[in-house]
Amino acid sequence: MNISHLSNLKGELTVPGDKSISHRSVMLGSLAEGTTEVTGFLQGADCLSSIACFEKMGIEIENNTATNTVKIHGRGLHGLTAPTDILDVGNSGTTTRLMSGILAAQPFSSKVDGDASIRKRPMGRIMTPLSQMGANFESLATDKCAPFIIHGQKLHGIEYMSPVASAQVKSAILLAGLYAEGPTTVTEPALSRNHTELMFEQFGVDIKISNIGKTTTVTPASNLRAQHIHVPGDISSAAYFIAAGLITPNSEITIKNVGINPTRDGILTVCKMMGADIALSNVKDDIGEPVADITVKTTALHGCLIEGDIIPKLIDEIPIIAVMAAFAEGTTTIKDAQELKVKESNRIDVMSTNLSAMGVDVEPTDDGMIIKGGKPLHGATVDSKLDHRIAMSFAIAGGLADGETNILGAECVNISYPSFYEDLANLNS
Ligand code: S3P
Repeated sequence: MNISHLSNLKGELTVPGDKSISHRSVMLGSLAEGTTEVTGFLQGADCLSSIACFEKMGIEIENNTATNTVKIHGRGLHGLTAPTDILDVGNSGTTTRLMSGILAAQPFSSKVDGDASIRKRPMGRIMTPLSQMGANFESLATDKCAPFIIHGQKLHGIEYMSPVASAQVKSAILLAGLYAEGPTTVTEPALSRNHTELMFEQFGVDIKISNIGKTTTVTPASNLRAQHIHVPGDISSAAYFIAAGLITPNSEITIKNVGINPTRDGILTVCKMMGADIALSNVKDDIGEPVADITVKTTALHGCLIEGDIIPKLIDEIPIIAVMAAFAEGTTTIKDAQELKVKESNRIDVMSTNLSAMGVDVEPTDDGMIIKGGKPLHGATVDSKLDHRIAMSFAIAGGLADGETNILGAECVNISYPSFYEDLANLNS
């Protein structure tokens, strides 16, 4: 796809619902007794994979794609039925890992598989703790990747020190903990997104959080109560417009109703560190998930150092932060972000290759990258590697580069933001 040039971005937009919260609403709604109604559901391919998997396990789910309202007719903690077919997770790591925590405790076996990217992503990180709980995984591939079969077992609680700050790992263990004998505790090295914990509380699950959020204990549940869930706009999707509004000349954009959960708001901190003109208004708390409108105006940004405990709070935004860094004066250094290598693509490699192709001075490192910004970018052909966050990042970079930029595999934005290119075009004048 050839990318349109960007100038004078003006106006308001509402980005689609949060991907992480949408996935969790399908899973907890399926395990609850009664009908859970979800509004603002993300109609991205990843969340549709979660719906399809739970439908295959006997859950009736009505998805009104015109209103983004989903009704999940939950059958209780023990109401899932054996899937008659493979559980196809598509491109979705969240579906794979969270659902595995549930499957590990079911009285049936299930086969989980996904696309070429999923088949390369590490699943040992969930197989290890879930196996300690008694789970029985049968790997059908080498290197503990998908496809695999999970033979459901009776589980017991564990105390797990996770080597990685990953909400997917934490959530898989906590979901398995719903079914285990005895309590299950997970401690992570740095706090990752806490949507599972917040939604557990909403559904009436007994959890205890300590150690500044880094330790969570779940007590096995007897039943979950159906809920109404309103999904806020996804800050990871808003990030492309935050960046575009800051680096496109003569721009002012307001993004309405964005989730600003403190475990996800690292992009806002980075914007401030880079000197951005950014303001929040209409801040509201929506059952523990705060939301706000975010207004950005064109700013001359400067580089900064991004490292340590902030990394899990902005891990999905690093591709677009790297684009902001390319337009900022001075050096931006990103450290402690080795997790980028095991996302939908190896984001250290892919960002470095593509930014270099556009003339940016970027050095990939083992745990991040160093970008010396402030020089004009030149149009190039860049490969998204079918990674939605890479495609969206280069739609912004390419829109501000001289010459033509062509994104290979640009349609993969469908994973988390099907209307991304239209929404961007609507702000462009
Ligand atoms: C997610 C957690 C993060 C994030 C992913 C969604 C979630 O992954 O990158 O896009 O919904 O729990 P990790 O848990 O692997 O860091």
